[in-house]
Amino acid sequence: MNAVTEEIKQLKKEKNAVILAHYYVEDAVQEIADYIGDSYYLSRLATETTADVVVFCGVGFMGESAKVLNPGKKVLMPDMSADCPMAHMADIAGIEKLRAEYEDLAVVCYINSTAELKAHADVCVTSSNALKIVKALPNKHILFIPDDNLGHFIAEQVPEKEFLYQNGHCPVHKAIAPEAVKKAKQEHPQALVLAHPECLPEVSALADYVGSTSGIIDYATKSDAEEFVICTETGVFYELKKKNPGKKFYPASAHQICPDMKKITLEKVRDVLKNESNAVTVEKELSEKSGRPLERMLELAK
Ligand code: 13P
Ligand code: SF4
Repeated sequence: MNAVTEEIKQLKKEKNAVILAHYYVEDAVQEIADYIGDSYYLSRLATETTADVVVFCGVGFMGESAKVLNPGKKVLMPDMSADCPMAHMADIAGIEKLRAEYEDLAVVCYINSTAELKAHADVCVTSSNALKIVKALPNKHILFIPDDNLGHFIAEQVPEKEFLYQNGHCPVHKAIAPEAVKKAKQEHPQALVLAHPECLPEVSALADYVGSTSGIIDYATKSDAEEFVICTETGVFYELKKKNPGKKFYPASAHQICPDMKKITLEKVRDVLKNESNAVTVEKELSEKSGRPLERMLELAK
């Protein structure tokens, strides 16, 4: 165990802290985390933890959601500048305009969004519960923000509803080109293609399975196949290989890296724990307004 890891272990005990990490952070950070998971799992954990301090190894919206769901906890972010660009890709004036136009509109907000956007939504979703939640809504018209690609993926499975979008996307998943996936399939003809729904619809159409990061890991683990082309951020390879040492995993392209997730380092985790710095704060009214759609998600996803 290296010196930084040892320090983190000591500090965790001293401060009664828990370390949560998303599958996209560096391997070394996943290694020291108490829990690793997808966005839904991590947001549920944030409501259940008995720790006094939560260190959230991920991007801004994750720490913010944890704080909103559990305002009494101290939530620390190893790097405050780690932000998901998609979290900002919706327009509040546009949401309100559509509300005035469609009486029965439900604003469904992907958890990859700022608290300001969530405050204007009826319900939040993650990639692992979006289908169940959208199906459970009585509304015919769904404004799906901010991720168009996840929205289109859900819309295809709920043809009875009418979806509206605002042009948001994840730059990391959007950069995975269908041509690259086809080339990877030619190079590895035995491999199954597993994709995240943030990918372009043309990529999802080429996939044998489309699901959240945990969904991809579970699918590969349960599958009898030996080889997989993976269309999501390459941080998932750590857990994929750990759970499946005999299987082979290939990225579809060379660019599947989220620069914001990679800002989280062991040294930064140690420093925020030591100094109790980078604490997430969400103003009370915003916390209450953005908390409602998050709580509704947890309720409907049960
Ligand atoms: P999930 O882990 O919930 O599938 O989300 C992927 C993602 O892009 C998180 O930023
Ligand atoms: Fe945001 Fe995409 Fe990075 Fe996830 S992978 S944090 S959606 S930019």
